[in-house]
Amino acid sequence: MNYESNTSLYRPRVTPVRGRLAGRNALITGAARGIGRAIAERFLQEGAAVAITDIDGEGAAAAAAELDCGGVALSWKLDVSNRAEVESVLDEAAARMGGVDILVNNAGVIVFGSLMECSIGDWERMMAVDLTGALHCTQVAARLMIGQGRGGRLIHIGSTASLLPTAQQAAYCVAKSGLRMLSKVAAMEFVKHGITSNLLCPEGAVTEINRELLSDPAVMGRLEAMIPAGRMGTVEEIAALAAFVASSEADYITGAELVHDGGAVNGALWWR
Ligand SMILES: NC(=O)c1ccc[n+]([C@@H]2O[C@H](COP(=O)([O-])OP(=O)(O)OC[C@H]3O[C@@H](n4cnc5c(N)ncnc54)[C@H](O)[C@@H]3O)[C@@H](O)[C@H]2O)c1
Repeated sequence: MNYESNTSLYRPRVTPVRGRLAGRNALITGAARGIGRAIAERFLQEGAAVAITDIDGEGAAAAAAELDCGGVALSWKLDVSNRAEVESVLDEAAARMGGVDILVNNAGVIVFGSLMECSIGDWERMMAVDLTGALHCTQVAARLMIGQGRGGRLIHIGSTASLLPTAQQAAYCVAKSGLRMLSKVAAMEFVKHGITSNLLCPEGAVTEINRELLSDPAVMGRLEAMIPAGRMGTVEEIAALAAFVASSEADYITGAELVHDGGAVNGALWWR
């Protein structure tokens, strides 16, 4: 098929706001690559100290070594589905950095397919990482933030699949919509401690999670045709949104869904 993707032609112009996150310590899960890594890079550029964590410990260490531009980039191997590991890594990161002010629940996995095709093993894995993993990190980070007494940020990487049923993403949609409500409940429980909780809902960016699927021009063409802006997002754009939510400019935003989709959700029923 002769299809030229609009996404691959687009180069975002996103400029870090230097110093906006100075004095803040962030811990990002699943940050060895993709969206998590882009968020780590952006946070470092804006002056935060960043704990880059991932189930791929070597990948996390490599990302920290590559991204550290005079800021503080530390790394840990962290499987978010392992409660004991979540507790020990968050405690250690807080001790090394002088607390944790920002948690980004980014780690995620997807097994594409319909409900009828979904094995119980795949279902349980997606729930364990995409939903329960976020609960583990939220509970442990919130405990630290409340103890520190200086507020905090819980930023969850949801998806447009948190909001709308998405074809061939059955279990993933269920997990990501659970994450949406986890974020909203956390927002209510922690607001009195100055801790905000928000869900970012990207429609998509090309990363390892979907690269194989999107390498099919027919799939990419169909997807881009569904998005009013005519292209997918980029990891840099998603990172820019995360940096804004992490900053004090977003002190008054909590329990929100920040949809990053080129108009896809708004235009779901709009003829094109
Ligand atoms: N790329 C997209 O189009 C898109 C769209 C919407 C939402 N998201 C979400 O963004 C997040 C990041 O995805 P990505 O696109 O960068 O994919 P990715 O596959 O490039 O990155 C995911 C990272 O999570 C790590 N990971 C997997 N299981 C883990 C576990 N148990 N504990 C800790 N880390 C683990 C992986 O090693 C990997 O580094 C995910 O939550 C994903 O669902 C992605």
